[in-house]
Amino acid sequence: MKTAITEMLGIEHPIVQGGMHYVGFAELAAAVSNAGGLGIITGLTQRTPELLAKEIARCRDMTDKPFGVNLTFLPTFTAPPYPEYIAAIKEGGVRVVETAGRSPEQYMPALKAAGIKVIHKCTSVRHSLKAQQIGCDAVSVDGFECGGHPGEDDMPNMILLPRAADELTIPFIASGGMADGRSLVAALALGAAGVNMGTRFIATKEAPVHQNVKDALLKATELDTRLVMRALRNTERVLTNKGVERLIEIEREKGKNLTIQDIHDEVAGVYPKVMVDGDMDAGAWSCGLVVGLIHDIPTVKELIDRIMAEAERLIRSRLTGFLDGDISGARKVA
Ligand SMILES: Cc1cc2nc3c(=O)[nH]c(=O)nc-3n(C[C@H](O)[C@H](O)[C@H](O)COP(=O)(O)O)c2cc1C
Repeated sequence: MKTAITEMLGIEHPIVQGGMHYVGFAELAAAVSNAGGLGIITGLTQRTPELLAKEIARCRDMTDKPFGVNLTFLPTFTAPPYPEYIAAIKEGGVRVVETAGRSPEQYMPALKAAGIKVIHKCTSVRHSLKAQQIGCDAVSVDGFECGGHPGEDDMPNMILLPRAADELTIPFIASGGMADGRSLVAALALGAAGVNMGTRFIATKEAPVHQNVKDALLKATELDTRLVMRALRNTERVLTNKGVERLIEIEREKGKNLTIQDIHDEVAGVYPKVMVDGDMDAGAWSCGLVVGLIHDIPTVKELIDRIMAEAERLIRSRLTGFLDGDISGARKVA
């Protein structure tokens, strides 16, 4: 399958792995790239630009295919040294960066001068248009379903993707709720040139996280995520657990007066506790509604091959069949 994204990124399948804190290490990024998608190392999980340079080198040892780095621009007072991170990305020969959080405008000249393709991940049409205007090569359009930060508009992909298709001239990929061949075909039908997946890639053999995390994803249904931090306008979709229940209780008590200090214990430093130690009640960690569609732990290659095979079957038999007047495939998907 060729799309504007496979051609832009030099990859075989239109499937990107979104940056994930404490998940997007070299092992996962290399596995996704080796399977024909685009793997992404999460830049800020590496505490310094030097450590990121080492992680890029480690990934390069595991794959000769293209891979990217995620740079999340956080609303913090003490910003990480982004120019040094960008230098590490450039010197590591990485040609694709997924930006997220705040607009990457300030860093676009450095990224473009390094010949890097920039995919900005955002949750609204207006931010997508801004990304296009400042020279981003593509956008990752993240719907309300997504694990992590869905923004404050609560716009699901069924509306967000066709709205993006109507407005954008640069290619975009669909992010949030993507899990299988059905998601890919639906995203393509709605105007996207591929998909970005987060949560689904955690439930794979190569994802370098504690087994408890994968087991929790298998056990959870689409009813088990919660939205937290709305009062701070920093809404995050997370998997519920005891820490999240505590957090929601505090949010109820404090109402509009909530401050980040009130929920410090439930949100700060949670990722290593969950992903490394497997402490599943530690607090808030991102997880998408798509968890309801996760029922196994395949290798990354098995997952990607399965998605592509299912997408092909859907397009060639189910959809083409309808056009030919054959209704037999109407309910049969796999
Ligand atoms: C555990 C986890 C950690 C994440 N960390 C980041 C991050 O550090 N930076 C970022 O831009 N996106 C992050 N995301 C969002 C993903 O890159 C992706 O946009 C999202 O997971 C897509 O929705 P899905 O989970 O439904 O596939 C994270 C998602 C998860 C599930």
